[in-house]
Order: sequence, then C-alpha cells, then structure tokens
Amino acid sequence: MSKKIVITGGAGFIGSALARALVARGDDVSVLDNFSSGKRENLQDLASALAVVEGDILDAALLDRVFAGADTVFHEAAIPSVPRSLAAPLASHTANATGTLNVLEAARRRRVRRVVYAGSSSAYGEPPSLPVVETMAPAPLSPYAVSKLAGEHYCRVYARVFGVEAVILRYFNVFGPRQDPTSQYAAVIPRFITAALDSRLPTVYGDGEQSRDFCFIDNVVEANLRAADADAASGKVFNIACGSGTSLNRVLALLGDALGRPVAAHYEPSRPGDVRHSLADISQAKAVLGYTGAVSFPAGLTRTLAWFRQRTSTP
Ligand SMILES: NC(=O)c1ccc[n+]([C@@H]2O[C@H](COP(=O)([O-])OP(=O)(O)OC[C@H]3O[C@@H](n4cnc5c(N)ncnc54)[C@H](O)[C@@H]3O)[C@@H](O)[C@H]2O)c1
Repeated sequence: MSKKIVITGGAGFIGSALARALVARGDDVSVLDNFSSGKRENLQDLASALAVVEGDILDAALLDRVFAGADTVFHEAAIPSVPRSLAAPLASHTANATGTLNVLEAARRRRVRRVVYAGSSSAYGEPPSLPVVETMAPAPLSPYAVSKLAGEHYCRVYARVFGVEAVILRYFNVFGPRQDPTSQYAAVIPRFITAALDSRLPTVYGDGEQSRDFCFIDNVVEANLRAADADAASGKVFNIACGSGTSLNRVLALLGDALGRPVAAHYEPSRPGDVRHSLADISQAKAVLGYTGAVSFPAGLTRTLAWFRQRTSTP
C-alpha cells in the first residue's frame, strides 16, 4: 500500500517539485497550503494525482484532519523571505516559528512517523569562516532567520522529548523551474533570467561579487526523499547545497553565455540583512543521508533558463 504523505506549503516552488516527485513514485500525496505565495498552477499537471487542501498551518483542527494516517510530513510552508520579515517581523514569526510548532504538535497527536523540515542557511548569518558546517553556532541576522531557526530548535526538541522523528534540512539558495520571478521579494535567479529574456536590466544589490551556494531544485527534492527514510538522521541538521559558490556577476556571465549575448545589470546599494558570502560543507548530508547533489550550478541554470524560455514562448 502506498504511504500517505503530507506536504505543507505544497503549492509553493519547492513543495510542488517535491509533490511531483512523490506522485511519480506512487505515494498518496496531500498538499496543505494557504496560497499566500503558492499557486494552483504549480500543481496543475498533478491535479488528478493528489489532494489539495486550502488552509493554514495555524489551524490545529485542520492539521489534525490532514495529518490523520500520514507517515511523513514535509514541512515547507513559511513566509520565505528576509525582506518580508524586515517589513513585518511578527507575521514571519507567526507563520514560520508558531506555524512549525503547530505542525509538530499535530504530528505528535497524529503519530506521524517523521517530519522533514525546510530549514534555512540564513541560520548561519555572517559566519566566521567558510564553508559553513552544521556544528557552527548559529547567528541569524534577520527576523526571517530567527523564525526559521526557532523551527529547527522545535524540531530537535520534539525528536528528543516527544519521539517525533524530525530531520532538519538547511537549504541554501534554491532555484529552478516555477520559482516566482514577479514577487517584490523574488529570488535572484528567476529575476535575472526573466529580465534577461525580456531584454530588461536585472537589478543587483551591492557590487555583484557577493556569492551564494546555489542549489538546483532537483537536489533539494533528492535531499528530502532521502531525509524521509535515512537511519540515524532524526534530530540532526544537514546543509543542502552544492558545496560551491558562485558570485552574482558570474551568474550574469553564465546567462550571457547561454543566451549568446552579454547580460548587463543595474547596480543598487546592498540590502540590510543580506550576507556577503554563503558556502556549504555538504559532507554530513552525503555521509548520513546519502545525498549526492548531482546537478551542478551551470547544469541547473541551463535547465531553469530552458523552462522560463519555454514558458515565455507558450501563449
Ligand atoms: N527557496 C529557497 O531558496 C529557500 C532557502 C532556504 C529555505 N527555504 C524554505 O523552503 C520552504 C519553501 O520555500 P519556497 O521557496 O518553495 O517558497 P514558496 O513561497 O514558493 O512556498 C511556501 C509555501 O508555503 C505556503 N504558506 C505560507 N504560509 C502558510 C501558512 N501559514 N499555512 C499554509 N501554507 C502557507 C505558501 O502559500 C507557499 O505555497 C520555506 O519553508 C522556506 O523558508 C527556501
């Protein structure tokens, strides 16, 4: 019999990619989403293959209904943005920290076997050295980072005290098809790609030499699938990235290569709460989860560009 799996935030960028992979392997998938940033179109191709429940992770009675009989919960729901948390810290805290506590409580009540938590590399802040390893002391620099880190702590405590298996994945900058390029808080790769395709100048905050460990969405899906079943993973934190850094100027150069013309940019002052460099040590995820992170940044960028191109050319 197929396992019942719940994805909170399953209409979002990462949640919907995970849903696609789980449906493909024959699981019984339910998505719970309040559609605050998620979109029905992200799940359009899966409409008949999964259950979509519109609602909030702050609604305990609803979580009880949706989690009944679930084996695994992938908890992706959050307000996933540093700038939004600076504009509205309480809203971030409520969705991300209180929301995670609610999810864990419901998982405990409903005896869910395992919760896999979408943590964030923002927990590290401006680290003393690179690459960052999971044993480093966290030093969040924004309300968003604090709220996501609070969720991690709750996961660890629920694993230890209540026996709810919980695995924490610290995602680095995830990118890929279906990432929203239009939101005021959009991530850099879809913004750069759509600007370049529309022949507009993408905006770079800072001098463009800041770097990120960009992680293609398929790697994140792989990490989640492995985290759901890996032994000796509960209560632990894993960096999920590629293990290599790329500057924003390099991203523009690679896009230029792929498009066959240079991609210039418009430079603005850097934003508060942004870190200069981010780079992960992924050896723990490799050793314990068997994570490979097989898709390199340039390969992922090519696939993402192809997806946005096709979307632009399809009426
Ligand atoms: N994208 C990244 O680079 C990145 C990096 C680190 C961590 N993360 C984490 O990964 C997760 C998924 O991020 P994403 O990039 O797919 O963002 P996203 O905005 O596409 O997905 C988040 C989803 O959660 C839903 N949601 C928000 N609040 C909710 C609530 N109260 N109840 C129910 N649903 C709610 C949204 O509607 C959306 O569908 C988030 O937890 C985020 O913090 C993402």
